[in-house]
Amino acid sequence: MHALSATSAAAPQTVSISLGDRSYPIVIGTQLLDNPATWADLPRAAAALIVTNTTVGPLYAQRLQAALQGRYAAIHTVVLPDGEAFKTWETLNLIFDALLGHGCDRKTVLFALGGGVVGDMTGFAAASYMRGVPFVQVPTTLLAQVDSSVGGKTAINHPLGKNMVGAFYQPCKVVCDLDTLATLPARELSAGLAEVIKYGPIADMALLDWLEANIDALRAGDPAALGYAVKRSCEIKAHVVGQDERESGLRAILNFGHTFGHAIEAGMGYGAWLHGEGVGSGMVMAAHLSQRLGGVDMPFVARLTRLVQQAGLPTRGAVLDATDNAGRYLQLMRVDKKSEAGEIKFVLIQPPGNAVMRGAPDALVREVVDYCCA
Ligand code: NAD
Ligand code: GLY
Repeated sequence: MHALSATSAAAPQTVSISLGDRSYPIVIGTQLLDNPATWADLPRAAAALIVTNTTVGPLYAQRLQAALQGRYAAIHTVVLPDGEAFKTWETLNLIFDALLGHGCDRKTVLFALGGGVVGDMTGFAAASYMRGVPFVQVPTTLLAQVDSSVGGKTAINHPLGKNMVGAFYQPCKVVCDLDTLATLPARELSAGLAEVIKYGPIADMALLDWLEANIDALRAGDPAALGYAVKRSCEIKAHVVGQDERESGLRAILNFGHTFGHAIEAGMGYGAWLHGEGVGSGMVMAAHLSQRLGGVDMPFVARLTRLVQQAGLPTRGAVLDATDNAGRYLQLMRVDKKSEAGEIKFVLIQPPGNAVMRGAPDALVREVVDYCCA
């Protein structure tokens, strides 16, 4: 498990997500994008729509289109503006404009080619266009390969809260071509590492050991290390989603660090902090809260903080309000989807390798925010 050769970067591997008639494969490997065989098992249709953005489109859209030639009579592309700030109704409508403008029918297959923003919006468009059309996730960021492309959460943001409008809607396939990560900026690679790290404390402490041993290789873009991180992350996520697709309980553990992180993203203005950066410092804050509630000890908090820092992520929280910072965090976190009747539910570690959902006294949360944002 500790060896970088845990997976061969060249040989595609498949992780299955078991959801009855909505089950699908997650294929992980290299040289997948250009290979027509990658796409040979997709639903037949007259048309396909590749949804991408102004950064990813010029890099990969033509290659995907070439690989799909012969399978679909018409292959259209819509290029969205790039960034979390564009994860909105207005941008979503560009996808519907393209679908309707090209006369696409209800069998049209959508391809989400990009990071989590493109993936979440394409999934939501697929869920609602003509009440549902098939879609394929082709994630090109580490974050999207290890998390957002898997499990069927789709959404757009609202100015008052992150991912507040959306649907559960599963893709019919996820294709993680590790080669696409070669063009990813270092800051985005680090952001993706946050979502890999989270799987350790909530489910697999052996993964945390492996990450500590391989963090430099991951940051250097080593394909074997990245392949293993993507595969292990997808296995853990598939296992959790297979038990609780619609987050009636267990699935919420995947949000470790996200309650604080989403507050930072919304409070700073979407796009100022990357999602993974919010999750990085959010995990440190959630670990401190876990420690104050008896779930973990200080050496564990220090260990997680060190790994977050080594991944190139912030370990301190953002200052969202100069006069009452903790109050602002509490205000934003009450809008979180996990809140019940105004009570914030945190994903906390108890003990390492296991997560629980629970509330915490405001005074304790204030203490943690003040300590972590000092
Ligand atoms: P992103 O989609 O904004 O991508 C990050 C940046 O990298 C963008 O500028 C993008 O254009 C660029 N990029 C993408 N692939 C590239 C490549 N191969 N080479 C060069 N540049 C590339 O951000 P993200 O981190 O991928 O995703 C974050 C989003 O995912 C957030 O909106 C978050 O809410 C969502 N999310 C969803 C889930 C879920 O379960 N649905 C889970 C986690 C996060
Ligand atoms: N990223 C959290 C989830 O998919 O549930």
